[in-house]
Amino acid sequence: MNLFNVYPLFNITLEKGKDVNVWDDKGQEYLDLYGGHGVISVGHSHPKYVEAIQKQIEKIGFYSNSVQNPLQKELAQKLGQMSGCEDYNLFLCNSGAEANENALKVASFKTGKGRVIAFDKAFHGRTSAAVAATHNPKIQAEINKGHKVTFLPLNDDKALYLELKKGDVAAVIIEGIQGVGGLDEGTSGFFKEVERLTKQYEAILILDEIQSGYGRSGKFFAFQHHDIKPDIITTAKGMANGFPVGGVLIHENIEANFGMLGTTFGGNHLAMSAAISVLDIIKEENLIANAAKKEVEFKELFSKIPEVKQIKGRGLMIGVEFDFPVAELRKKILFDHKMLTGNAANPNLLRILPSLTVKSEHIKLFYNALLASL
Ligand SMILES: Cc1ncc(COP(=O)(O)O)c(C=O)c1O
Repeated sequence: MNLFNVYPLFNITLEKGKDVNVWDDKGQEYLDLYGGHGVISVGHSHPKYVEAIQKQIEKIGFYSNSVQNPLQKELAQKLGQMSGCEDYNLFLCNSGAEANENALKVASFKTGKGRVIAFDKAFHGRTSAAVAATHNPKIQAEINKGHKVTFLPLNDDKALYLELKKGDVAAVIIEGIQGVGGLDEGTSGFFKEVERLTKQYEAILILDEIQSGYGRSGKFFAFQHHDIKPDIITTAKGMANGFPVGGVLIHENIEANFGMLGTTFGGNHLAMSAAISVLDIIKEENLIANAAKKEVEFKELFSKIPEVKQIKGRGLMIGVEFDFPVAELRKKILFDHKMLTGNAANPNLLRILPSLTVKSEHIKLFYNALLASL
């Protein structure tokens, strides 16, 4: 059997990872500045992460959500404490798209309404309602198009008001910082207006923190730069450093009932041991503060490069924008300098999403590699 061929792949086979480095099957070392789409939060194969998973699998790896699982409660308690979101309840699932799919479903259950507002260049995943709220018709099949989604420009208060006042909107879904779209974000004024208008017109505000969350922006969640309080927050990617875990943080004003949501794998023992160890490591190693510090270093250094048009993003979620497409530059950085970077819907943008453990010396190595490649 062959693989269903949906991914254009670099011809590299990775065999090993340690913190911010990975090695291929020929023993070649790479600096990983992309963390496999922003997933690696505490470094590849962190010893405490490995130990936690190993110890757990020796005890029990999986049982379904039909028995008590204290690990889920431990994760929820630690996540509430570290994120400052103690007045939310946690639903556990397996991916970012699944988190958003469930968030949109909860919004629709709660409001009894069905229309969703999303934003230009948004990416929320590939399941049905999530992909319908993703601003890319090429990845929406006919079956996904039945959802009622209206796309608005970011930072357009008036357009948002005109749509919400129609009264049929269940949810406004917005990324803390846009990832795939190219690192655009709402202004604080806009986020505040989204919060005010969703309250006024009884719609649910969903903050998609799947990429921008878990410390990456220099705060636990990126929306916390704007002093707002969403009804629902979704998270995945960095949550378990590569183990598939997604989470929906649902404000306690929204009540649960049995059967409202569900999943077989979500919240299983092995996944929880991975997710708990990630939070422990982020705390012990002060990684959120590191993300904030590295943003300053990164921006200071890279703004000196004349070809760089703009540096977008926050913390360790950074977009370096040029006035030419970066595809060739990315290949040079990869094959000549052995560094992994990412791209975005904006072809002129290089996306940098390293592990939150990245050090100044790695940023300097990348700076020199970029200078030499330009
Ligand atoms: C902001 C955002 N939301 C949702 C998703 C979907 O996550 P997953 O690929 O885990 O389904 C992504 C993935 O890139 C994302 O960046």
